[in-house]
Amino acid sequence: MPVTSLEPRRPWKGKRIVLGVTGGIAAYKAIQVARDLTRLGGEVDVVLTRSAERFVASLTFEGVTGRPALTDLFSAKGAALHVRLGRDADVVAVAPATADFLARASQGRADDLICTTLLATSAPVVIFPAMNDKMYAHPQVQDNLDHLQNRLGYQIAGPVRGALAVSEGVGRGRLIEPWQIEEAIGRGLAMDDAFMGKSVLVTAGPTQEPIDPVRYIGNRSSGRMGYAIAQAAWRRGAKVTLVSGPSALDTPFGVDTVAVETAQDMHVAVAERIGDSDLNIFSAAVADFRPTDSRDVKLKRNESEDRMLVDLTENPDVARDTIANRKKGSVNVGFALETEHLVNNAFAKLESKAFDLVVANDANEEEAGFSVRTNRVTFVQKDAQSERLPLMSKDEVAEEVLDRARTLVIESQ
Ligand SMILES: Cc1cc2nc3c(=O)[nH]c(=O)nc-3n(C[C@H](O)[C@H](O)[C@H](O)COP(=O)(O)O)c2cc1C
Repeated sequence: MPVTSLEPRRPWKGKRIVLGVTGGIAAYKAIQVARDLTRLGGEVDVVLTRSAERFVASLTFEGVTGRPALTDLFSAKGAALHVRLGRDADVVAVAPATADFLARASQGRADDLICTTLLATSAPVVIFPAMNDKMYAHPQVQDNLDHLQNRLGYQIAGPVRGALAVSEGVGRGRLIEPWQIEEAIGRGLAMDDAFMGKSVLVTAGPTQEPIDPVRYIGNRSSGRMGYAIAQAAWRRGAKVTLVSGPSALDTPFGVDTVAVETAQDMHVAVAERIGDSDLNIFSAAVADFRPTDSRDVKLKRNESEDRMLVDLTENPDVARDTIANRKKGSVNVGFALETEHLVNNAFAKLESKAFDLVVANDANEEEAGFSVRTNRVTFVQKDAQSERLPLMSKDEVAEEVLDRARTLVIESQ
């Protein structure tokens, strides 16, 4: 899912990000990354290798970050620049990372500014390799990556299989896309012990209940809220599974996404996974009813005789039916979209579905609920006053939900 809002927000806001750029064809993508990270609120120091300057101009990075791009280990102003950069960084990222850089970094070389900064930092490091597929498959490159990941604890994201530079065809070596790089840098910033190693299951989107092969009963859910939660939980270090009804959104980066269509499909997909999950967030807008007889062939107008009745059957309740099979000590969060008696209905849902937290919102409010990018929610918890939050982006609501879930996860251990 591309980063949906480029307003300053967590986890990038106010964070110091060192972005190393090395000399590969994909260096042009780093310009977009530097710009996006700056718009997300990061203070981005770009460090270019000498080779990188052959591909992209430092001036371009200065234009998008508003800060001088750094190139020289020995600049007069930059006495011990590497130490300052490394010490002050909240995260150090290198995108793209050439084969040569991987070799230098895995040897602990200190003959340029980005490699020296790596030695001087205790911040998380995220590396984004990009090169020709044959170079990437070379055992020496693989050994270097293995060392960086398993000995030095760096996170490695990509490369993926895809179109390489012109005339190089298709293969594994392609840099991941800018929004994915930004998410992985966000993970470097947001990693949280309370979520690391935890399994999180999120349901999202609408369901579509077929009337015939081309028509269905659906609802206006975009999936945006659940997708934002799944992505934010991944950034915090969780292993995330997203069970999603049909949605136009790109699947969140790093998240195992299971696509379903109907409430019955979602019921099965969730039931199969619930037993291993530490935190379950039910944000899907599951249809309560489905057409009793879904036709195999398209209904024709002349079958209707002016009116058409569709008989409906109740669907299984995805969240409630998991109660008996939930992992012991798991935390369960539900969403409630209501048109009246918001808080009372949310309290009722808390009881009937054995939720630890209900995130309620009012379908009548403008700028909240389905289809829009913002939401105004009320948190309802057992033995606590309900708490109404101000209008915020769904990305920020996702962080608030996970902050509450974090406390519940810690308490349940
Ligand atoms: C046109 C061109 C494209 C290159 N693309 C890549 C690349 O995508 N990945 C890579 O690892 N090296 C690539 N190289 C080789 C590097 O530029 C070279 O190894 C250089 O020493 C890397 O320096 P650096 O790691 O200090 O930036 C390319 C070289 C040229 C001339």
